[in-house]
Amino acid sequence: MKIEKVGIVGLGTVGTGTLKILINEREKIHQKTGVWIDVKKACDLNIEREFDFDVDRSIFTNNYNELIEDDEISIIVELIGGYTIAKDIIIKALKAGKNVVTANKALIAKYSKELFAIANSNGTKIYYEASVGGGIPIITPLQESLAGNNILSIKGIINGTANYILTEMTEKNIEFEKVLKKAQELGYAEADPTFDIEGIDTAHKITILASLAYGGYVDFEKVGVKGITSITGEDIKFANDLGYNIKLLATAKKYEDEEIEVRVQPTLISQKEILSNVNDVYNAIEVIGDYVGKTMFYGKGAGMEPTGSAVVADVIKLATEDLANNIPKGNYYYNINKELSLRAL
Ligand code: HSE
Repeated sequence: MKIEKVGIVGLGTVGTGTLKILINEREKIHQKTGVWIDVKKACDLNIEREFDFDVDRSIFTNNYNELIEDDEISIIVELIGGYTIAKDIIIKALKAGKNVVTANKALIAKYSKELFAIANSNGTKIYYEASVGGGIPIITPLQESLAGNNILSIKGIINGTANYILTEMTEKNIEFEKVLKKAQELGYAEADPTFDIEGIDTAHKITILASLAYGGYVDFEKVGVKGITSITGEDIKFANDLGYNIKLLATAKKYEDEEIEVRVQPTLISQKEILSNVNDVYNAIEVIGDYVGKTMFYGKGAGMEPTGSAVVADVIKLATEDLANNIPKGNYYYNINKELSLRAL
């Protein structure tokens, strides 16, 4: 029986979603994977906060070093976000021999070289499925499922806040500022919401996707970025009348000379296209590979539970990778000795 001990740093929106899923679904996760995943400690500046699920409050601390120094904890989940303290924590965790799971797209986009070098030299791993597309699996598909393809292009609506704002402006004619406030209340927006509306968050995410798709380092500073702050209700109305919707679109494509173009900009998309009909907080990523053809990944791109779901996926991936009894992972997922009860037809 394998028990994996996890430490979570940051109990904001995504941290709370992650903690909730790991606690409430502990049994189910064990049934499906064979591993018990226990949150041993969770760190936040505010450890008095209330949760809508049962939690043993003795796991809480406001000193993240307690997690890093705890020899039993093998996975540190960093959910603070931003470039500064989060980076220090990840580096300390890697150097202490722990694997890291993060949703921090800003860090992965800007400091991947440095962070992965530290991970590699310490024999540790950084997983970041939650960094792009909230609950949508897209990192693992690019790293594994589609890896045999040459990726011809990626087109994505990958910021839930911006898409929510554009949808509300289109459907309800609500002003920009009001919708942004609502997106913040719903826990979609970044701590600094200018990252969402100026396209910076989208640029972080497409940097990560392009890097995985084309198998190399993409310099975030060279990505072309234009956000949605200058889009007016009138622009949207004109676009709609002509049969288009305006979306904040991230694109990456490779030219024949091997050069890669990566950009973020508001784009007119024909209402006949699937991407044009991706609304609210939903994200969608179209990936075209030379062998597979067109694929589409769709789901909620932000928020407590969808993003928590992606974080938990990485924790499970790490926890099941090195099962002590050497049963191949693929075989382990199916608990063939437990017969499921099927409803009679
Ligand atoms: N602020 C981000 C968004 C959160 O709105 O998409 C998810 O990465």
